[in-house]
Amino acid sequence: MKKYTDIHDIKNINETIKEAIEIKKAPFNYKNLGTNKTLVMLFFNASLRTRLSTEKAAKNLGMDVICLQINNSWNLEFDDGTIMNLNTSEHIKEAAKVIAQYADIIAVRAFPTLSDKDKDNAEIIIESFSKYAKIPVVNLESSTAHPLQALADAITINEFSAKAKPKVVLSWAPHPKALPQSVANSFVTMMQELPVDLTITHPEGYELNTDITKNSTVSYNQEEALKDADFVYVKNWSSYSNYGKILSQDNNWMITQKKLNNAKFMHCLPVRRNVVVEDAVLDSENSIVINQANNRTYAAQIVLKKILENLNG
Ligand code: CP
Repeated sequence: MKKYTDIHDIKNINETIKEAIEIKKAPFNYKNLGTNKTLVMLFFNASLRTRLSTEKAAKNLGMDVICLQINNSWNLEFDDGTIMNLNTSEHIKEAAKVIAQYADIIAVRAFPTLSDKDKDNAEIIIESFSKYAKIPVVNLESSTAHPLQALADAITINEFSAKAKPKVVLSWAPHPKALPQSVANSFVTMMQELPVDLTITHPEGYELNTDITKNSTVSYNQEEALKDADFVYVKNWSSYSNYGKILSQDNNWMITQKKLNNAKFMHCLPVRRNVVVEDAVLDSENSIVINQANNRTYAAQIVLKKILENLNG
């Protein structure tokens, strides 16, 4: 694997899920693979799980890890030909090339503006690092995608599924802040690659990018969608059509124990209790959110392993 900025960078997803589950059983088996290799992680936004699980994964493979939390005082310029006499102090052309001298793999987290749809869809930050650093880039959640989360979600569903083709429901839930569509986008893309029966449910106006949902089943009726679900993945996202806007905070969309019934509850975390989902669900046996977060390590580890194998030739 040359990079992991998109789910489709994985050649065989089902095989990769199986390999990740094997790595989970013996995480230090490839400790020599990353010897004398450095992962530089750049965070333009905060993180708990991605930051820690990716570092743990890299260290399990014997890599050195350098992490930089980029704050607002270090503004990068991404446009060509700009007269940089305002807020930006360094151009991506220099920054990416310099970082590439310190790193064998660069991993980047950069959330969307949620105000400029075209700019967000262009994935300027991740794409610019790929273009100028010319070393493998891993997406730690970008404007439109969170592929490491989606791989962890797929591993978790594989581990907990009792059926050959489980029913998986992605349900929107309310949230007080405008959030990206990235987790939902990558989850849908991943589910389309797996033997699952996927239904997406959300209020009108929250349709995801149709280039991503394609012909997946979409329902505005949450109760109907949740019927006979085996897995219920809950996530808020802001409107895509009315870009970045909150159109509803209707708490009737919150997931309750009654709605969940016997399904497994999934969420990428962090989650707002009693806004997105009630306590009773998160505190129940049916919640597998902690297992999902654990699988972030093995999702990152299988991706880094494949990139290192390619680097080592
Ligand atoms: N799920 C996830 O990406 O968590 P963090 O924002 O804490 O990294």
